[in-house]
Order: sequence, then structure tokens, then C-alpha cells
Amino acid sequence: MIHEVRGVVARSKGAPVTVETVLVPDPGPGEALVAVQACGVCRTDLHYRQGGINDEFPVLLGHEAAGVVEGVGDGVDTVAPGDFVILNWRAVCGRCRACRRGKPWYCFDTHNAAQSMTLSDGTALAPALGIGAFVEKTLVHSGQCTKVSPAIAPEIAGLLGCGVMAGLGAAINTGGITRGDSVAVIGCGGVGNAAIAGAALAGATTIIGIDVDPGKLQWATDFGATHAVNARESDAVEAVRSYTGGFGADVVIDAVGRPETWRQAFFARDFAGTVVLVGVPTPDLMVPEIPLLEIFGRGGSLKSSWYGDCLPERDFPMLVDLHLQGRLPLEKFVSETITLDDVEAAFEKMERGEVLRSVVLLCGPG
Ligand SMILES: NC(=O)c1ccc[n+]([C@@H]2O[C@H](COP(=O)([O-])OP(=O)(O)OC[C@H]3O[C@@H](n4cnc5c(N)ncnc54)[C@H](O)[C@@H]3O)[C@@H](O)[C@H]2O)c1
Ligand SMILES: [Zn+2]
Ligand SMILES: [Zn+2]
Repeated sequence: MIHEVRGVVARSKGAPVTVETVLVPDPGPGEALVAVQACGVCRTDLHYRQGGINDEFPVLLGHEAAGVVEGVGDGVDTVAPGDFVILNWRAVCGRCRACRRGKPWYCFDTHNAAQSMTLSDGTALAPALGIGAFVEKTLVHSGQCTKVSPAIAPEIAGLLGCGVMAGLGAAINTGGITRGDSVAVIGCGGVGNAAIAGAALAGATTIIGIDVDPGKLQWATDFGATHAVNARESDAVEAVRSYTGGFGADVVIDAVGRPETWRQAFFARDFAGTVVLVGVPTPDLMVPEIPLLEIFGRGGSLKSSWYGDCLPERDFPMLVDLHLQGRLPLEKFVSETITLDDVEAAFEKMERGEVLRSVVLLCGPG
């Protein structure tokens, strides 16, 4: 059976998104059909629609989602119809060289659905991050469905599927932040503020939020930043040093992903500290010029964080539990709930810095 549903499509590079009829096949072997209940608007969706990720169009946007499994294909025993799930975009294979060496968060062969969702004329859609969830029903690999407690609201749960997990994980998993650390986070959008929340959860005692937008800095403070720096008004590197005894922070997270912010991260770090790049650069951007001797002389590590180095099966249920226990205020990330028709307007609000996350609410099953 083919399911005819509504979805948000970027038809060509830079063009405003449109709501289209999307045809979704029944799940084949290993696949799951999910009735999407909520899907957050992430900057990566905007990168896709601007052609900043690749040239594959049309794209079915949306990837930060939660919903209910409606059907599963042959051989699927990890989820069943009726399960409440968060969708993930790195379903680990368990067999590649990274998985075999015990580092499955680096999996080099992550799974996606084998069948395509299409427009009504049969044109195959490229689903954003192998998900495509600004749509009433989506088809994913069953490994992309992580079962969590249905006690959490879908619009909050879905955010763990991308930006919030990426930020929390950049702090806790990639950055290895622990009690007493000093941390600076450059870019306090959805991802950066999640990194701040992660640093607070892990026990960092100095947490410096840096942004160019005063509204974002207020949010940063709400999530646990002990200091807020407006990089338009003061030198970010000097400010971080001034709040860390003149030394720099143990961990600096770049949640913007531009040469100038990465350079700031590099120099705002203490000797032997860690830089974590979680913001995604566009293909035109180059590593800033830094003397090689500085890279040697400062020691430490320069890391990237794919999806917060998370393991969805380990991290999503744990973070949902922390939220339900009142220890992780994930609800603060939801600035507004919208419909499928409002995604383009949500991109504009994101560009104007008015929201942390706009979340599309769909009716879900029933
Ligand atoms: N690594 C991953 O797995 C992963 C996952 C999700 C998103 N991302 C990426 O993370 C980045 C942030 O995503 P988001 O959803 O939080 O976006 P966002 O638009 O909500 O936040 C970006 C923030 O950076 C600030 N900013 C811009 N230029 C700055 C500068 N020069 N100095 C300081 N602050 C500056 C903006 O004011 C804004 O608050 C994006 O590049 C996105 O693609 C990465
Ligand atoms: Zn693997
Ligand atoms: Zn995302």
C-alpha cells in the first residue's frame, strides 16, 4: 500500500520550501513506517534548502522528530506498531570497522530506509539526514527508531533526535566535560544552548556563553551559563581568558562552524584543552591560518562532534529520564509550535534569531 501524505519539500537550491503530496511505501525488510507527531526546525534543514549540504534535490526536509511506529517490515524485532520513538540519523550497523573496534558512535555504515519516498509524479525525494520528517508519515530504517517513554511530550522528545542531542553530546561525550571544568560555548542557538545545558548537567563550574545576539545570551543564562559574552561588543577570546584566571577554558565548543569562530575556540582554550567543532561548516569554508607551532605548542585535542558522538539507544532514553525527573529542562528549547505550512516562516524567524526551536506539530496516529 502507498500512503499519500503531506510533506515539506525543497525543490531546488535556495527556493522557498513548498508543501507537497508525498507518497510513502509500506515498510520493506528492516524498515519502519512512522506516524510523525512532532519535528523541530534545525539549521541543518536550512543548510539543505540552501544547497549547503549537497546538490541532491528535491529534498524532503525535517529530521528532528518523534512519533509512533505504524508498521514494520520483515525481520524487524526492535520496535513494533504502537511504540513511541525518537528518530535518529545514525543507526549503527554493528559490523563496520568502527563498530567492531568498540566505537559504534563513529559507525561508518549507518542504515537508512532502502525504498524511496516520492513526489506524486514518482520523483524520488532525498530525505534530510536520511530521515525526512516534515511529513505526516515517514519511512526509515528500523534502527533509526529509538523507543522511549511516551510520558515525554513529542515536541520535546523530537529535539533529542538532532540539535539538542548534538549539543548535549558535544559537551558530555565529545568534550568529556566533567565536574569543575571551565567551558566556553560559541553560538548559543539550539545546539549551543544544549551544550551549555550539558556542561551544567556534567558539573562544569564556569560556563561562558558567547553569541552576537543578546536574546540568545539571555537563553544561555537560563540554561546555566555563568557568564555571557556578546562577541560584537567584546573580544571573545579575551573575555574567556578573563573569566578563567587568564588561562582559557578547558573545553571550548564551536556551535557556529565558521573559520572565525573556530579560530576563537582555538585561542580561547587553555593549554592541553579541547576544542569541539559541532557547528557544520559549508563546503566553501577553510581552516583559518594558525601557526603550526601554536597547534603543537598548545597541545590538547581538536575534535569534531558528529551527532554529539551519541548512541541513540543509550542516550535518548537516559536523557528522557533526566527530563522527566526535572533535571534537564528540555521544554525550554521549544519556542513555538507550528504546522507544516509554517516551515519557511520558521526559517525566517531562525535567521532573525527569534527562536531556539520552532517545532512542527502533526496529528500523529488516530
Ligand atoms: N554536529 C552535528 O551533528 C550537528 C547537529 C545539528 C546541528 N548542527 C549544526 O550546529 C550549528 C548550530 O545549529 P543551531 O540549530 O543551533 O543554529 P541556530 O541558528 O539556532 O544557532 C546559531 C547561533 O550562532 C550565533 N552566531 C552566528 N554567528 C556567530 C558568531 N560569529 N559568533 C558567535 N555567535 C554566532 C547565532 O546568533 C545563533 O544564536 C549549525 O551549523 C548546524 O548545522 C550540527
Ligand atoms: Zn558500523
Ligand atoms: Zn539537525
